[in-house]
Amino acid sequence: MLTTQGGPLSGALQGTAIPMFAESRLLFKLWLKNPRKIGAVAVSSAELAGAMARQVPRGPGYVVELGGGTGSVTKALLKAGIHPDKLIVLERDPTLHKLLQERYPGVRILLGDAAKLQPLLKREGIDHVRAIVSSLPLVSMKRSLQDRITAQIFYVLEPGAPLIQFTYSLFSPIPRRRFGVHGEVGDRVLQNLPPASVWVYRKPHVHARAAE
Ligand SMILES: C[S@@+](CC[C@H](N)C(=O)[O-])C[C@H]1O[C@@H](n2cnc3c(N)ncnc32)[C@H](O)[C@@H]1O
Repeated sequence: MLTTQGGPLSGALQGTAIPMFAESRLLFKLWLKNPRKIGAVAVSSAELAGAMARQVPRGPGYVVELGGGTGSVTKALLKAGIHPDKLIVLERDPTLHKLLQERYPGVRILLGDAAKLQPLLKREGIDHVRAIVSSLPLVSMKRSLQDRITAQIFYVLEPGAPLIQFTYSLFSPIPRRRFGVHGEVGDRVLQNLPPASVWVYRKPHVHARAAE
């Protein structure tokens, strides 16, 4: 069972066991302050988080999660067998960053903006990664920010390595032609509120490093 390990957020989230509604309440409170930045009002369901984790290929190298939020996808990635040493979680909101640090002390949880992914990873000694799992609200972002983040993502991903992104939209959250990447729906999760699609994108083996 997840705990807040007695940290400063444990009061806010009521002691050791964190009920799902408390996580949703926290995300909702932060969403009320800044809907565009947080993106979703509701925590990703275990079904959605599991569907994203299933798309991560086995193998060596780092897996990066973007927009860790309350940690539902982090939990699924660890459950799917990704070693805590090989998992990097990036979260921009300081409250959620702290919550993630308290919950997953064995995982590197970075505070920062996905638009600066490459320098943030470089600081950690990481050049390339084997998969990126993203809960970022790409669809609700300004196009310029969406472009910066997408360019950074495909810069750090090894050729052929997947970007796994969920969306509530009926359409691809990433303009594939603009970035010259392949993408398709890897899974649809109806047991999520609202129902979501899990998209899997790959850059071709020869791909211009757009972030350079
Ligand atoms: C949909 S919510 C997280 C969902 C998460 N799977 C959960 O169940 O809690 C999206 C998260 O992305 C974070 N985020 C938004 N823009 C970001 C950015 N540019 N860089 C890093 N994190 C960002 C938000 O703070 C939020 O925690």
